[in-house]
Amino acid sequence: MATTIGTREFDRLREFLERETSISLGDDKAYLVETRLAEIMAAHALPDFGALLTALQADRPRGLRDLVIDAMTTNETLWFRDGAPFDLFRDHFLPAWAGEIAAGTRQKIRIWSAACSTGQEPYSLAMLYAEAGRRFPALRPELLEIVATDLSDTALAAARSASYGGLALQRGLPEGCLERHFAPAAEGRYVVRREVRDRVSFRKFNLRDSFLTLGAFDMVLARYVLIYFQDAFKREVLRKAHGVLEKGGTLVLGSSESLPAGVPGFTMVRRGRVTFYQKCDAAPRASAPGGGGVGVSAVGGSPGGAADADMAALLRKLQDLNSRKTS
Ligand SMILES: C[S@@+](CC[C@H](N)C(=O)[O-])C[C@H]1O[C@@H](n2cnc3c(N)ncnc32)[C@H](O)[C@@H]1O
Repeated sequence: MATTIGTREFDRLREFLERETSISLGDDKAYLVETRLAEIMAAHALPDFGALLTALQADRPRGLRDLVIDAMTTNETLWFRDGAPFDLFRDHFLPAWAGEIAAGTRQKIRIWSAACSTGQEPYSLAMLYAEAGRRFPALRPELLEIVATDLSDTALAAARSASYGGLALQRGLPEGCLERHFAPAAEGRYVVRREVRDRVSFRKFNLRDSFLTLGAFDMVLARYVLIYFQDAFKREVLRKAHGVLEKGGTLVLGSSESLPAGVPGFTMVRRGRVTFYQKCDAAPRASAPGGGGVGVSAVGGSPGGAADADMAALLRKLQDLNSRKTS
């Protein structure tokens, strides 16, 4: 079996990947394709990359495309990644939302973890919410909905199982967290407790698709995923994220990432070591953290704004109608 890839095959393979997922492989990533696809090729008796590409084109066997896409995603993640953004979530966003709920100006909180990988990011948020409920009784469990999406079936299966072992447990979990939020399971593994799991729903979702099917959100996390895309698609994702954010809603990127030029409608807010972006086509909510002026600056010019704000409001109304129908 020939598991080295020629230049032509490599180009065709990366065209396929970019077309399907927008993941862009650099010229130096042939080794990545070789190592990640060798097992799939062996399992399907595909003798070389030419045969793999023919099979992909014919979509035979069915499911091969998804396997290849899955294998080419990088699912690196950890609990409370970068620390500081999660501290800010606990110390500023949650108290602000609790105040709004208590004052009757907010009914619920919807957060989207876009590219959630194996679940550490959304579960970290849900753990902080569960803990904050003891300080702020207004933060009742059923008021939080975290929608967590990813393209990778393998990552989503791990996330849904909520079962973690070995290295995954050692990466980023603060002291006491294991005891508070996990139950011991077989073979030294631990499962996230139900009160945390119930706050998160997982769904397969390609960032190339329309975001409008997901509803409106108070916060969107698009962390460490844009790095895999070309600039034009990064901007497209962020413009679509703007469209599903509520007025004054918050966009969070990875700590080493920043909003590319050409994405209008966000105000950059710096709080300590954390930078986030607030939808700015209307005045930010009075109680939203950072809205008061420290380290705040508009980025990207004039938004396509009012229409997007209306779209988020419309999405929220549809959600409310749907949840009334199903309850
Ligand atoms: C490095 S992980 C980031 C995980 C998490 N957000 C974090 O910061 O730890 C990147 C994730 O993006 C997902 N991904 C890549 N391209 C995608 C696309 N087009 N649509 C949806 N998810 C995608 C991958 O499957 C992978 O799980």
